[in-house]
Amino acid sequence: MNDAAEFRVHADASALAAAAARRWQAIAAEAVAARGRFDVALAGGATPQTLYRLLAHPEWRASIDWGATHFWFGDERCVAPDHPDSNYRMAREALFDAIDTPPAQIHRIEGERAPEEAARRYEDTLRMQFAPAADDPPRLDLVLLGLGTDGHIASLFPDTPLLDESRRWVGANRVAKLDAWRISLTLPLLNAARHVVLLVSGEAKAAIVGEVLGQARTALPRYPVDRLRPAGRLEWLLDAAAAARLDPRGTLQ
Ligand code: 6PG
Repeated sequence: MNDAAEFRVHADASALAAAAARRWQAIAAEAVAARGRFDVALAGGATPQTLYRLLAHPEWRASIDWGATHFWFGDERCVAPDHPDSNYRMAREALFDAIDTPPAQIHRIEGERAPEEAARRYEDTLRMQFAPAADDPPRLDLVLLGLGTDGHIASLFPDTPLLDESRRWVGANRVAKLDAWRISLTLPLLNAARHVVLLVSGEAKAAIVGEVLGQARTALPRYPVDRLRPAGRLEWLLDAAAAARLDPRGTLQ
């Protein structure tokens, strides 16, 4: 576990979403001031939807420079963009439809293509956008991640090949337990980020949080999330239900 990580526990899911929105707003403002743009990789799944809907509300929407924002995705299911399982569809319905980010700045993973082709095209898009001098991965300003009950992040599941990818930035991952292919950013790209924020909510996550952050934690990377060692800041934002097995750390925000 990354000992430099920061942890904050919030009363419930809505307080967690408000805290995440404040972090988004601060990181976005800092990025736009410094570099004229804000590059954020969205998490999929259920947890971040409350945050995305909150950011779409008028009082939050007005406080963020959506025109300077570039959206990326931490991962995507291998489905069409209008499929109920699509992370892109979830984000479009919860956030994109309410803001004025130019469509060309919403970089979705093409889940409808063959997995390896989708991964290669996404990496090409990143290269075109960031034109890295060397082969170093681009430094996204913010990477949002959820946490699976098995300790997966993005679509880097335990015991899957992509977890050990050390060179490519995006890959296709065969996830046997889901009997499905996924496309995911890899650890080299995730760990290049200026800020990584993990959003963890609900009692279903209490066990894995206790394993990863609690007394049982070890220096050995037992879970994919243990391999997160971003060049920038790593922040865990939890609600009380997800943190139920932790000793009191700090106070409820
Ligand atoms: C996805 C996500 C995945 C998710 C975790 C937690 O595409 O599903 O990227 O990594 O963050 O599985 O999902 P929940 O927030 O739904 O618990």
